[in-house]
Amino acid sequence: MDEQLPVQVTLTEIKTETPSVKTFFFDRTFAFEPGQFVMVWVPGVDEVPMALSSPNSVTVQKAGDATGAMFDLRVGMGLGIRGPYGKGFTRGEKMLAIGGGVGAAPLLPLARSDCVMTLLLGARTEKELLFVDQLDESTDVIIATDDGSLGQHGYVTDLFKEINPAVYDRIAVCGPEPMMRAVLAAVDTIGFAAKTEFSLHRYMKCGVGICGSCCIDHEGLRVCRDGPVFSGEQLKKSEFGHYTRDASGRKKKI
Ligand code: FES
Repeated sequence: MDEQLPVQVTLTEIKTETPSVKTFFFDRTFAFEPGQFVMVWVPGVDEVPMALSSPNSVTVQKAGDATGAMFDLRVGMGLGIRGPYGKGFTRGEKMLAIGGGVGAAPLLPLARSDCVMTLLLGARTEKELLFVDQLDESTDVIIATDDGSLGQHGYVTDLFKEINPAVYDRIAVCGPEPMMRAVLAAVDTIGFAAKTEFSLHRYMKCGVGICGSCCIDHEGLRVCRDGPVFSGEQLKKSEFGHYTRDASGRKKKI
């Protein structure tokens, strides 16, 4: 398959995961590494980047025009898919994964590949936790909710303070950027920034490294081509956790 061409897929199942998140399964599988993304074309609306949550699904939070339109789709309707693109997570043998909210989506296929020993999973409430029932016993899942409705009362970053990171050979993180920035600060203080990887979300037009819309300050790394997964060392002196840019390139504070 030519990865530059959109492939038309038909929705075979739409699963409601939480009140604001759905998984859209389609009739085609894609070979991918966890953390890679596809450009999803919602006919008549927009094309947006989304991480694959399995070889034939994307897990989506309703947040804008394109995702809002996806929530109106029904089984049997179509989408266009380009990709997969970008760099996924580097696999280890004893990994720690840290996910917040819909950020757990690219961590699910990583956990299913049996290299994740422990998953720290956070959400605002019990109802908003993703995938808790979809992981087997090989992954130890530790939960935190902001309101204390399940697991530890607090943030997923609080859970990090209670584990021994030296047990793990690599750390994979995906979630809201302030949460990931807090994890980067924590791993940096113990010298683990190089072996911790973070999945970034940025506005994208082309998805293939040409337009420059996804570049991050200060080195101009392209999130679509050089990422979306970056090591903590790469991100330490970047805009990561501070600001992002909108479609016109204007800075938006995080
Ligand atoms: S989206 Fe065009 S360079 Fe990344």
